[in-house]
Amino acid sequence: MKVDGKPMRTIWLADDGWGVEIIDQTALPHRLVLTRLVDLESAARAIRDMLVRGAPLIGATAAYGMALAMRQDSSDAALAKAAEVLMATRPTAVNLRWAIDDMRRRLTGTAPPQRAAAAYARAAEIADEDVAICRRIGEHGAKLIEIAADRKPKGEAVNILTHCNAGWLATVDWGTALAPIYVAHDAGLAVHVWVDETRPRNQGAGLTAWELGQHGVPHTVIADNVGGHLMQHGMVDLCITGTDRTTASGDVCNKIGTYLKALAARDNAVAFYVALPGPTIDWTIEDGLRDIPIEQRGGEEVSLITGLDAKGEIATVRITPETSAVANYAFDVTPAHLVSGLITERGVCQASQTGLRSLYPEVSAD
Ligand code: MRU
Repeated sequence: MKVDGKPMRTIWLADDGWGVEIIDQTALPHRLVLTRLVDLESAARAIRDMLVRGAPLIGATAAYGMALAMRQDSSDAALAKAAEVLMATRPTAVNLRWAIDDMRRRLTGTAPPQRAAAAYARAAEIADEDVAICRRIGEHGAKLIEIAADRKPKGEAVNILTHCNAGWLATVDWGTALAPIYVAHDAGLAVHVWVDETRPRNQGAGLTAWELGQHGVPHTVIADNVGGHLMQHGMVDLCITGTDRTTASGDVCNKIGTYLKALAARDNAVAFYVALPGPTIDWTIEDGLRDIPIEQRGGEEVSLITGLDAKGEIATVRITPETSAVANYAFDVTPAHLVSGLITERGVCQASQTGLRSLYPEVSAD
């Protein structure tokens, strides 16, 4: 997508041919800061500290992290260590495991002297595949927005509510939940996005709002608790969110607060869609509530808040009493029965085992 009118991805190979450039998302929306990953440690830190985030981008960054590690040391021991270090960075997004397993499998079958080159080539492929997948998610999902537009008075904008950031900043390009919105907007459909701020890290207020603004998509940032009210008053036509892990039976795990939006949508007969690339499906599990590890992050993300102060400087302030305990559950699980449909690169399906298998028949049943 575009930043100041120029096409940009979230991750790319640096001009020197081996470093890896990323957008440091902790500085957005206030500053556009680019950072160079130079080794395994810097790649792991970028994922852990959320300079990059979003399930698909975490996967692509891990793939490049493996490449950087192989450049340093291409032995079997270094390969195993790189996989272990990267796997420990964030527990919920399954694209991380998917990318690491894919890289590890291919590199194990490659002689050590060729491993670095093979790793860079595969990481670039993973990034390009993600772009193509997200573009297709956009095309399939845009048809749902068209259907919603046909039900409204001509020219009236379709109101779409989204949570967290599942836009191009969460992927390599296009995004998952926001891809249908970009495709519909680019095709001339009138759309308006309700952007949940998404406490505690405010990925909606900071990232989704920024990227929609850069692309010229009309949007309004709302506090996290507003969506239910808007739905009760007919002000949301559909919801689209992303997912960090989808079980084989269609449960989806996404940023904390997604479940409450799905409940409100069901109560108000508003369609609740979840957009995802194939690598976000964890075929090894059925029950999301039981089997998906929910990341708990540092309490400071809840007790402190960061923004621009009156002088235009980035400042962090405390918003809770020093002595109060805080808890920071980063994700929740929305059961399949609350999801109207899954938007994938292969089309839209029911959130169920039958639905997913109809699109991915090659996955074995055991
Ligand atoms: O903690 P984050 O910012 O990595 O969480 C991101 C989300 O929850 C996204 O909605 C999810 O990764 C889907 S991304 C395309």
